[in-house]
Order: sequence, then C-alpha cells, then structure tokens
Amino acid sequence: MDIVLYPDPRLRAPNDPVQEFGPELQALARDMFEAMYRTEGVGLAAPQVGVNVKLLVFNPTGDPEARDQERVLCNPRIVRSARERAFGREGCLSFPGIFAEIERPVAVTIEALDLRGRPFTLELSDWEARIFQHEFDHLEGVLFIDRMRPVDKATHRAALEELAAAYREQRVAHPERTRGPARPE
Ligand code: CO
Repeated sequence: MDIVLYPDPRLRAPNDPVQEFGPELQALARDMFEAMYRTEGVGLAAPQVGVNVKLLVFNPTGDPEARDQERVLCNPRIVRSARERAFGREGCLSFPGIFAEIERPVAVTIEALDLRGRPFTLELSDWEARIFQHEFDHLEGVLFIDRMRPVDKATHRAALEELAAAYREQRVAHPERTRGPARPE
C-alpha cells in the first residue's frame, strides 16, 4: 500500500462516508497502520492511500508495539472545538520532508463510528487533538499547506514545486498508478 503524494488529485477528491463495516474495512485500517508505521507517521487518512472514504487512523506514539494507543475513526465529526489555539510543528506523509508550524484549536470533541459501526465520543487535547485535526482535514480535502502561514508556504515553495514535478514524471512513467490531471497548487 503506497502513500499518495502531493499533488495527486485523490488528496483533493470528495470522500464518501463509510457504509460497510465488514472485514474489508478492518483490513483497510490495518493496512493503513502498516503504511503509517513504515513511513514513521503518527496518523493517516484513507485518501492518502488512494481510498476516498471518511476513515482515519492514528497512534500518537507512532510505535507499532503500542497497539493500545491506536485509534480508528469512521465518519468523524467535530462537535466542539476549544477557543484557545496554538501553533505546533506538523509534517504530512503526502509531503515528505516538509514541516511547518500550524495553528489549531488545542482541544476538540469528536463523534465517530468504530470499525463495527458503533458510535462513540472522544475528547482530545494537545498532540492527539492536533493529529486528529490534521487527518480530519484530509477527509475534507484540506491539506496542511492550506493552513500554513504565507511566510512558511513561501519557504517551502521550491520543495512543493519539486513534488509537483516528481508527480508529473511519475504520471508519464506509470500512468496506471495515478489518476486525473496533475494540478499545480
Ligand atoms: Co497529512
């Protein structure tokens, strides 16, 4: 399972709600954790593996041994956001090598479904709240570059252009691995 890299249009495509809570969904979540650990990430959203559904996984420790820290959320909704906001350093597996300070609410309350379709509520703060909000953004087609301060985006401009160039080259070499037009952003 490969990670979809910017500017693949699947990162901007609409994501459908999860409707089938069977073994296929469990296998997808497991594969996403594997891909996440392999690339030393702490969170991953389904569109980042080319599956446009509202599913995200994370593990704030990033440690594959810490299975009890794993979270899987289907069709998540933010029902409350803290008024207090803070900056924190973020990266994204779809933007290898790019990191920036992003401002977000410091706490969120979420409603979601688990892998069996059972609803639950979760209150997250600090690092976990940040990871969740980053992954939740992916389900809305929002990327962390959209939330970067203009000064940071300017800093990373060359790196973003390199990613776009690599994507275009890969599309020519392996058209079956990519879909749709490459849109520079
Ligand atoms: Co990301």
